[in-house]
Amino acid sequence: MTNTSRVLYEAKDGMARLTIHRPEKLNALDRATVQEIDRAVDTAGSDPRVGVLILTGAGEKAFVAGADIHELATQTPVEGEAFSRAGQAVLSRLETLGKPSIAAINGYALGGGLELALACTLRLASESARLGLPEVSLGIIPGYGGTQRLARLVGRGRALEIVLTGEPIDAAEALRIGLVNRVVPAADLLSTAEALARTLLSRGPMALRYAMQAVRDGLEMTQAEGLGLEAALFGLTCATEDMREGTRAFVEKRKPAFRGR
Ligand code: COA
Repeated sequence: MTNTSRVLYEAKDGMARLTIHRPEKLNALDRATVQEIDRAVDTAGSDPRVGVLILTGAGEKAFVAGADIHELATQTPVEGEAFSRAGQAVLSRLETLGKPSIAAINGYALGGGLELALACTLRLASESARLGLPEVSLGIIPGYGGTQRLARLVGRGRALEIVLTGEPIDAAEALRIGLVNRVVPAADLLSTAEALARTLLSRGPMALRYAMQAVRDGLEMTQAEGLGLEAALFGLTCATEDMREGTRAFVEKRKPAFRGR
């Protein structure tokens, strides 16, 4: 376990766990925390032993209660744009890392916290989680990708209701609209995330990478273009050792030993 001041990083059994650790401020994202998330994501991305990332928040109350409002309050327009761009870049690196990430949402996921969860590949929530984008109540709009990723995930109408009212929704509602994949009791949240991570770790890493890319980039294209991308990536999987191992293991009636090549 490596302890930096704002993010706890632990890599074990193919999983990297990133715990946003600023519990006295409900894990609010100040600049230092965002930088540490970036470094931790980079560490997980470049460690060949890590196949899946799990992100969660320290304490029982919050995943992340948003960007740090004290820092936000003093920004000039130029600083505001740079702040937004810098946060967006960190979350985009997480989203395009090529390794799946699971947000284990253990409480409030507000503003930048929900935006961080939206940049993850999958989202699990505890029954007590509350999710929202309250920025408009501060006179600003979401700036870490919330207006873009939320609408793509749950549709324009639902996204606009969440963005424009600024009101958080509970975990059951988040599940109903597809904002989270599963809701579990708080005590089971991390074990459920780890079980899901183990399932992902048993699959071909190269296949996961290309499948995420096909879905993510395909959503930005026409269906015909997306089908072209899918075919090209399918072709690429046929050049991997993982493909040879996966198909051979099936024929030999054994579990595949994927190497991510
Ligand atoms: N930025 C900076 N500090 C924050 C924060 C944020 N986004 N969210 C919480 N905190 C701090 C509080 O200021 C408080 O610090 P203090 O003890 O030094 O005063 C501490 O975290 C605990 O929060 P508190 O408000 O006392 O807890 P609560 O249980 O009464 O309320 C929330 C919880 C989440 C409803 C409330 O903290 C909140 O509304 N936070 C802001 C959410 C938000 O607007 N996020 C989007 C920002 S763009």
